[in-house]
Amino acid sequence: MNFEFTEEQKMIQQAAKDFAERELLPDVIERDTKSEFPSEHIKKLSELGFLGMMADPKYDGGGMDTISYVLAMEEISKIDSSVAVVMSVCNSLVNWGIEKFGNEEQKEKYLRPLASGQKIGAFLLSEPEAGSDATKQRTTAEDKGDHYLLNGTKNWITNANCASTYIVIAQTHPDKGHKGINAIIVDKDTPGITLGPHEDKMGMRSSDTHSVMFNDVKVPKENRIGEDGFGFSFAMKTLDGGRIGIASQALGIASGAFERAVNYSKERKAFGTEIVNHQAIAFKLADMAVKIENARNLCLKAAWLKDQGQPYGYISAMAKLYCADISMEVTTEAVQIHGGYGYVKEYHVERLMREAKLTQIYEGTSEIQKIVISRMLTR
Ligand code: CAA
Repeated sequence: MNFEFTEEQKMIQQAAKDFAERELLPDVIERDTKSEFPSEHIKKLSELGFLGMMADPKYDGGGMDTISYVLAMEEISKIDSSVAVVMSVCNSLVNWGIEKFGNEEQKEKYLRPLASGQKIGAFLLSEPEAGSDATKQRTTAEDKGDHYLLNGTKNWITNANCASTYIVIAQTHPDKGHKGINAIIVDKDTPGITLGPHEDKMGMRSSDTHSVMFNDVKVPKENRIGEDGFGFSFAMKTLDGGRIGIASQALGIASGAFERAVNYSKERKAFGTEIVNHQAIAFKLADMAVKIENARNLCLKAAWLKDQGQPYGYISAMAKLYCADISMEVTTEAVQIHGGYGYVKEYHVERLMREAKLTQIYEGTSEIQKIVISRMLTR
């Protein structure tokens, strides 16, 4: 076993850190307050190759491994998770899904502009009544011979407005349950697609989240990914990898808050000494450090398994569960260590705490991860 990163992995980590500190940090609080999508920052992120970092260079991707992706996601999430989630959805859900299961025409037409970062993708699974219970898709993709006709509503869609390419999960054969579901690539500007208003969220306020409505949206049959009825399996396999992205995001939020808490406790004085010298604070920091170390190891193990071509869904669900839960715990403690200063925007930790909450909810709640893990244990 080797815990040392390669020179390339270290370079990618450093590049992500530099980008986050130089480009994202200066106005992250303002973007969060205004709920403002970071268009310019995403453009720079794509120019640096992060949006397609894991895609095959054959399709203009970066060809980097999942370990590098975890390292980069952690660094960017330390500063701005609203940017990190764009990177996560593009790499893990959209690019990977098309590269792994799409045909050559789909890869040329859709993966290439996504992998090069010219376009952004979105993954449309959740519905008003099918978030956790993803088999109950009500959006329909009616088979009309040479095309599908899409009708229905998707909820909580990250990148809904900024994306050009959607992967839509929809029901074609209701009598077959989840075996009747398809995954279909849809151009966002297809007539019949409308967006709900930007969601006014508690955290990750500047990420681009909307409902998406489909009203008789005509999509060519050749845009279906895989065989007829493959869509649910496609979504589950894709989410296995997506959870590595969100786990790394949760890890980054935790480690960002932790670094701030350590620095603050070394500067802030109370009862005649820096507060880090009080065991009440030092023990909190020790507990936070242990949780972060464990969380990082789980993320890296899931990434390593994926890079080795070994099954990783079980560990990626563990990583998602553990990282999200400790992210909430660590950020809450970081606010506590900062006292009153932790409760105001300037010190960043209140924002990180709000961001941590979302990692326990999206790409499968913490409860869903427990279902995934326990089923794999009992199968
Ligand atoms: N890989 C491949 N196949 C899988 C699978 C996986 N990881 N997990 C399940 N399946 C298959 C099962 O083998 C089964 O197939 P068969 O019928 O052929 O045996 C089928 O899928 C149904 O599985 P279950 O019986 O386990 O289905 P279930 O309904 O009891 O539970 C679930 C499924 C795990 C709870 C699933 O619905 C789930 O993961 N829900 C959460 C969905 C989710 O994460 N949503 C997030 C939206 S995306 C998002 O948030 C992106 C963003 O914006 C950031």
